[in-house]
Amino acid sequence: MLFDTHTHLDQEEFDDSRSDVISRAKAAGVTQVVAVGTTFSASRKCVELAAEYSGVFAAVGIQPNYIAEAELDDWQGIEQLVGQPGVVAIGETGLDRYWDFTPFDHQQDYFDRHIRLAQRHDLPFIVHMRDCNEEILEMLRDANRRSPLKGIMHSYTGDQAMAQECVQMGLHISFAGMVTFKKSHELREVAATIPWDRLLLETDAPYLSPEPMRGKKPNEPAFLRHTAECVASARGISLEELASQTTANAVELFQLDKS
Ligand code: NI
Repeated sequence: MLFDTHTHLDQEEFDDSRSDVISRAKAAGVTQVVAVGTTFSASRKCVELAAEYSGVFAAVGIQPNYIAEAELDDWQGIEQLVGQPGVVAIGETGLDRYWDFTPFDHQQDYFDRHIRLAQRHDLPFIVHMRDCNEEILEMLRDANRRSPLKGIMHSYTGDQAMAQECVQMGLHISFAGMVTFKKSHELREVAATIPWDRLLLETDAPYLSPEPMRGKKPNEPAFLRHTAECVASARGISLEELASQTTANAVELFQLDKS
């Protein structure tokens, strides 16, 4: 059994196929998924999906590239969603220097808010990072001075040193389809060195389908199996072992063993 810790099931790519996508995931052994919000309305939709489908949970937050277009009361809306049933994480949050949709200091303000909200509610936060590893680390170090961190470096593409520091601060490292790409030798080496209890898997569907489905759009949770096979082989273990460990990690992190 596999746990897809990061999908965007709310998105319109799935509007005509959502029930089938969830059935195909279950048939492929992907029995649990977190639907991750990128805006207030997307987050609200993720909470609705968690109520509608068993095995679907929600993360609520405003992704850095969508902050500039957020309404004034959207952040309050996110705070109010946190108590809803099925909400297991805050995000996605983080920083992005590749796109220029939101001024960087505005992104930093919201990253800080998400981390504090997560710490207040003892929930994990989900970190998106693109082209700003050092700035991410600085903010994580700051937050770590307040209390140990609980969260996920999502669709991880950084190097081993950064992964190690994130793990030391308490974070989990999650690998998506990119780790399966032919040129991703270094990333597979990083995936092979993450401590057992901090390793997670995700599809980040509908984006970036893993090999050998790479050309296929949209990506969907059922394809997680390919990423799992790739990481299992990088670590020299069986798919079953990898599946049961990463699923147990996710269940513990999202506190699903307590509900
Ligand atoms: Ni995402």
